[in-house]
Amino acid sequence: MIKILGAVALGLSFILLNFMGLSYGSLQVGFYKGKCGRSDVEAIIRRVVAAHFAKDRTTVAALLRLQFHDCFVTGCDASILLDGLNTEKNSGTNQNVRGYNIIDQAKAAVEKACPGIVSCADIIALATRDSVNMAGGVRYNVPTGRRDGLISNADNVDIPGPQLSVSDAMAFFAQKGLNIFDMVHLFGAHTVGVTHCSFVQDRLFDFQGSGNPDPTMDRRLAASLRKRCPFTATVDSPINLDQNLRSSNTVDNSFYKEILIKRGILQIDEELALDRRTRPIVLELANGTTFPAQFGSAMVKMGSIEVLTGRQGEIRKSCRAVNSRKVKTVHKH
Ligand code: HEM
Repeated sequence: MIKILGAVALGLSFILLNFMGLSYGSLQVGFYKGKCGRSDVEAIIRRVVAAHFAKDRTTVAALLRLQFHDCFVTGCDASILLDGLNTEKNSGTNQNVRGYNIIDQAKAAVEKACPGIVSCADIIALATRDSVNMAGGVRYNVPTGRRDGLISNADNVDIPGPQLSVSDAMAFFAQKGLNIFDMVHLFGAHTVGVTHCSFVQDRLFDFQGSGNPDPTMDRRLAASLRKRCPFTATVDSPINLDQNLRSSNTVDNSFYKEILIKRGILQIDEELALDRRTRPIVLELANGTTFPAQFGSAMVKMGSIEVLTGRQGEIRKSCRAVNSRKVKTVHKH
């Protein structure tokens, strides 16, 4: 009887903990509390991010994309950080991914306080959260306890290009356990940062062989982008993903407002405002007040994709390399 009561109590407290947002699967908010002497791991990371953010407001765009590209390829295991000839960071898709130096500095700072305790995968999640908050977004709780992966291979990087359909995007997110709401909320990250002419040129001149620009793009925007991205250009110029230029580096709901007035830059961004399945979600986010909290929850969900915990993986010494293994040598007598 006591055993049954105990099991029920344990189950209830688990549900309660989950309900309060303190634990997520095998991750846990505050995992590092008390594990680093008197130091506050999350505060150490926040200070490093703040120093970067003060100098460069695009820090938030860098980290958001870094976390997305880490989590969607073999889970949130910091595999994108590993240096090497054919590692993920050297794949074509990851060419413009940046922010590695921020993670390196945060790692150096936590290693100084308590070596071998804090994973690079957790640093990515915490640093991204901090930058979102500094850029005007909500400060969501990040469950921690991830461990770092041992493998990184460029061939595993299968993140699609911006021409994919809404159906294909839904399938891509579903494959990682994320639903249509999570997907539309996460696309809100395109409220910061930039793309480049090469990703939108097809929409500006001869869309799908029609001889005309993409009709779903505002005509004045298309005209100004044609000037910015001429066929003869020798540089691949950046273009703000959020065309409300007063908030191009702010984590707010203006991305959704812009795509509703045909000012989405990437084809898939505009599609979200047009597709009958995603449009109602876009309308809600553009006109309501739910975006900050919804974005935070979706980031927590993305941050829990295929995480390594417990005895899986390792805690890297440097985020750029797996710890050296003691190689067993066989002695011939
Ligand atoms: C299938 C889904 C997605 C596609 C196809 C996509 C595509 C793209 C493309 C083409 C760029 C521009 C890259 C460049 O010009 O160098 C970009 C930038 C960006 N993406 Fe996405 N994206 C997707 C989902 C996401 C998600 C889920 C997040 C984060 C939660 C995200 C965050 C960002 C950010 C912040 C940037 C700007 C990066 C910078 O300024 O350095 N994206 N995305």
